[in-house]
Amino acid sequence: MAEKREQFRSRLGFILAAAGSAVGIGNLVGFPVNAAKSGGAAFLIIYAAFVVFICLPVMIAEMSLGRNTQRNPLGAYKAIAGEKSLWRFGGWLALITPFMIAVFYQVLTVWLLGYFVGAVTGNLEAMAQPGYFGDFISGNGVFLYLLVLTVLVGVILNSGVQNGIERLAKVLMPTLFVMLIALTAFVLTLPNAMSGVKFFLIPEFSKIDISVINLALSQAFFSLSLGMGILITYGSYVSRKNSVAGGAKMVALVDTSVAFFAGLLILPAIFAFTPEILSDDDSSSSISLVFVFLPKIFLALEGLVGFVTASLVASTFFLLVFFAAITSQVSILQVPISALQDELKFSRIKSVLTLGALAAVLVIGSVMSFGMVDWLTDLLRYGENLDKPKSLFDLIYDVFYETILPLNGLIVCLFVVYRWRRANMNNELKTGDESFDGSFAKRYISVALGTFVPAILAFVFVSTVLFKFFGISVI
Ligand code: PHE
Repeated sequence: MAEKREQFRSRLGFILAAAGSAVGIGNLVGFPVNAAKSGGAAFLIIYAAFVVFICLPVMIAEMSLGRNTQRNPLGAYKAIAGEKSLWRFGGWLALITPFMIAVFYQVLTVWLLGYFVGAVTGNLEAMAQPGYFGDFISGNGVFLYLLVLTVLVGVILNSGVQNGIERLAKVLMPTLFVMLIALTAFVLTLPNAMSGVKFFLIPEFSKIDISVINLALSQAFFSLSLGMGILITYGSYVSRKNSVAGGAKMVALVDTSVAFFAGLLILPAIFAFTPEILSDDDSSSSISLVFVFLPKIFLALEGLVGFVTASLVASTFFLLVFFAAITSQVSILQVPISALQDELKFSRIKSVLTLGALAAVLVIGSVMSFGMVDWLTDLLRYGENLDKPKSLFDLIYDVFYETILPLNGLIVCLFVVYRWRRANMNNELKTGDESFDGSFAKRYISVALGTFVPAILAFVFVSTVLFKFFGISVI
C-alpha cells in the first residue's frame, strides 16, 4: 500500500512554507531594483494591482489543483485529464521548469553564501572592488560553497515536508522578518535616506510604459512562485480543513510586504551613498546590483559607522537574502521530488539523491559557464544581439525563467477552465472554507481565469519569444 501523503502540520506552517517559497531573491533584490528603475511608487502600485487581480487567481487555481488531486504537477494533470491526454505535457512542463529554475537559483544561492562568508570574514573592502565578482564566480572557491549548499539543501529535503520544509520555514521566516525590519530601521536613520523614501513612495507615472507594465507583471508572477508547479505541490500537502483561498491571500500579503520593506531598505541605501547607480545602465540587472553594487554601498557605510558595524550590516543582509533563497530553493526542488515519489514510487532518500545527481551535472555546468569552460560560456547566439554569446546559465535563464514561466501559468488557467472546470475548482475551494461559496472572490476568480488572465499571459509569452529569440520587439 502506498504511504500516506505528508501534510503540513498546521495552517501557519503551510503559510510560512509557501511564503518561504515566495519570498526570495525576487523580492529582496529584483523588486527594489525594478522599482528604482521604473518610477518608484508608480511601479509599486502597478505591481500590487497585478498581485491582487492577476496573480492571486492563478495562485489559488494552482493550490486548489494540488489539494484536489493530492499529487505533484504531472500527477495532477494526469489525475484529472487521464494518463494519455495531451494535457500531460502541461504537467511535464510544470515539472521540468522548476527543475531548471532550481539550477540557476542554486548558482545564485551559492554566490550569496560566498558573499555572506566574505562579509563575515571582514572582506568588505575586497568585495567592493570592480573585478571581485568576476573573479569570485569563475574561481574554484565556488565549488566548495556549492558542495556545502547542496548537502544542506539535500538534508532539509530528506527530512520531509513537516520536519524539513515546514520546520525550516518556521525558524527562518520569522528570523528573516526581524532582520529585514531591523536593517530597514537602521538604513532609514542614514543621512539622505529620506530622498530614497520619497522616491519610493511618491509615484512618478511618467516612467510607466508598456515595457514597465510587462516587467511588473513578470516580477509579480515570479515573486509569488507561480508557473513553477510549487503551489500545486504545496497545495497537495494542505489539510482539507484549511482554506486554500485564505492561505493564498496571506502568502500574497506576506510576499508583497517583504518586497515593500526591501524597497524601503535598498532605495534609501542607494540614495544615501551611491545615487549614481540609478542612472548607470549596466546595473539594470538585479544580479549586478546585489553582487557588484551592494558591497560598494556597505563599504561607503564604513566611513559613517566604522568597519565592524558596516561588516555586521553587510553580513546580516547577505544572510537575510541567503535565508530567503534557501527556503525558495527547497520549495522548488520539492516539486520533482514529489513527482519521483508519486509517479515512480521512489523513497524519499532515493528521490533526493537521484535529483541531486541530475541537478549537480547542470549546476556544475552552469557554474563553469562564467568563463571557466569556453564552450559552456559561449554556448549559443540568438536574439537581438548576435555578437553577444549566451552561456549555459543564460540559456537556462532565458528559456525557463523568461519564457516558459508565463506559458505554464497560461496552461494552468486553460486547464482549470476547460478541462477540470471551474465548478470543480470552486468545490475544492469550498472545502475547509464555507464562506467561499457566496464570496465576491469566487465570482472574480471564475471570470478572471476564463478571460483576461490567460489572454495577458498568452501575450506575455508570445512577445517574450519574439523578442528574446528573434529580436522582434512587439511592445
Ligand atoms: N519567489 C521566488 C523569489 O522571489 C522565486 C523562486 C521560488 C525561485 C522558488 C526559485 C525557487 O525569488
